[in-house]
Amino acid sequence: MPPYVTDNMIIVRRFQPADFSGVITIEREQFDEHDPYLYMSLYEFNEDTFFVADHLGEVVGFVVGVMSIGEEGAYGRVFSIAVREAYQGLGIGTQLMKHVIDALYRKNIDDIMLEVRKHNFRAVQFYQRLGFVIDRVDAGYYSDGEDAVVMRHRRWML
Ligand SMILES: CC(C)(COP(=O)(O)OP(=O)(O)OC[C@H]1O[C@@H](n2cnc3c(N)ncnc32)[C@H](O)[C@@H]1OP(=O)(O)O)[C@@H](O)C(=O)NCCC(=O)NCCS
Repeated sequence: MPPYVTDNMIIVRRFQPADFSGVITIEREQFDEHDPYLYMSLYEFNEDTFFVADHLGEVVGFVVGVMSIGEEGAYGRVFSIAVREAYQGLGIGTQLMKHVIDALYRKNIDDIMLEVRKHNFRAVQFYQRLGFVIDRVDAGYYSDGEDAVVMRHRRWML
């Protein structure tokens, strides 16, 4: 466990099936929203855009990027990102996002989208620091009725 985690003790690497329970633990801790098995099917179709942060063999964060098709054609989407509470604020989320942004752009798309709950100001700021800008607000997007702030990153912002 923390308190002191230095850069060289955290490795960001591709998700492997053995990481499944670690990802589910974080998902339950941070969101408790998705059916755990969803992550296995996300892995099946998005193997090269699913990353974990590994601290001495323990999964302490993850990010899942997916490809989507919209009216404007194919685009990337950050489906979900979370870092274990005790490890937040140490730069791990930033590293995970840099990996997924890079991996999604390798798929020859020009935009990456994500949705974030309207109340989650810190996450909105976190994404803004990474170059995402607010695109629109989707009213009642979440199953509990909360609005989503939809954010967009463009390749030329890199
Ligand atoms: C958002 C999140 C992935 C960022 O990961 P992280 O490793 O804490 O991020 P970093 O250390 O690289 O950057 C820290 C910045 O993230 C933002 N942040 C958002 N939520 C935060 C939290 N609960 N704790 C700390 N930082 C948070 C802040 O802007 C913070 O900067 P600040 O310290 O100047 O306020 C992580 O905090 C988290 O898992 N939060 C809960 C789940 C969540 O909100 N996911 C995004 C939903 S779309």
